[in-house]
Amino acid sequence: MPAHLTRIVPWAQRLLAEILRPGDTALDLTAGNGHDTLFLYQQVGTDGRVFAFDVQTEALKATADRLRRVGAMTTLCSADSLPANPPPGVHLIGDDHARLARYVQTPVRAVIANLGYLPGSDQRVVTRADSTLPALQQALTLLSSGGRLAAVLYSGHPGGEEESTCVREFLRGLQPCEWELLKISAANREHAPELLVAQRR
Ligand SMILES: C[S@@+](CC[C@H](N)C(=O)[O-])C[C@H]1O[C@@H](n2cnc3c(N)ncnc32)[C@H](O)[C@@H]1O
Repeated sequence: MPAHLTRIVPWAQRLLAEILRPGDTALDLTAGNGHDTLFLYQQVGTDGRVFAFDVQTEALKATADRLRRVGAMTTLCSADSLPANPPPGVHLIGDDHARLARYVQTPVRAVIANLGYLPGSDQRVVTRADSTLPALQQALTLLSSGGRLAAVLYSGHPGGEEESTCVREFLRGLQPCEWELLKISAANREHAPELLVAQRR
């Protein structure tokens, strides 16, 4: 069986894997079922740090279970419980990613924002531009030189097109002298998911 050329999340992961190294710090703005958080953990290893946000308890639990199955040091954090210099491991944060700056102040090497809703759950809990944009803005501020932010946009669900348009416009506004921006999507499908990757020069 050939690999699916147009599956977008593997492209996002591939482009982040290129620049991530053991010991790095990475962010997952939408933990969901924990696939991307696990991927980031596998790149940064036991000496690295992954911060993963989600507003749904169900998602944080699924992510914690997935990470613990591979033996990752995983902690559930609140604003009060996250120390100023968090130890290596996976830090799961049950809060809106728009409050990212309250939790993470150190430079990060990679960020993933796989937007939309938790597959197989309540589709009313969905990412929206009014919190996604501040989260992306704060995440970009934390990215180190050569670091990458990957945003996966979906336009097929209610509100998805509006959010995708806002994110696209926001990222296209990044200054080319400071940022490179790559776009990948299936060219012959309606409402195909879209990947935007910003790299700080
Ligand atoms: C497409 S899923 C993420 C998939 C996930 N990265 C994975 O690997 O399974 C989107 C997630 O975003 C979460 N979400 C929605 N609004 C959010 C917000 N404001 N802050 C943080 N997470 C949010 C949802 O609860 C949902 O779990």
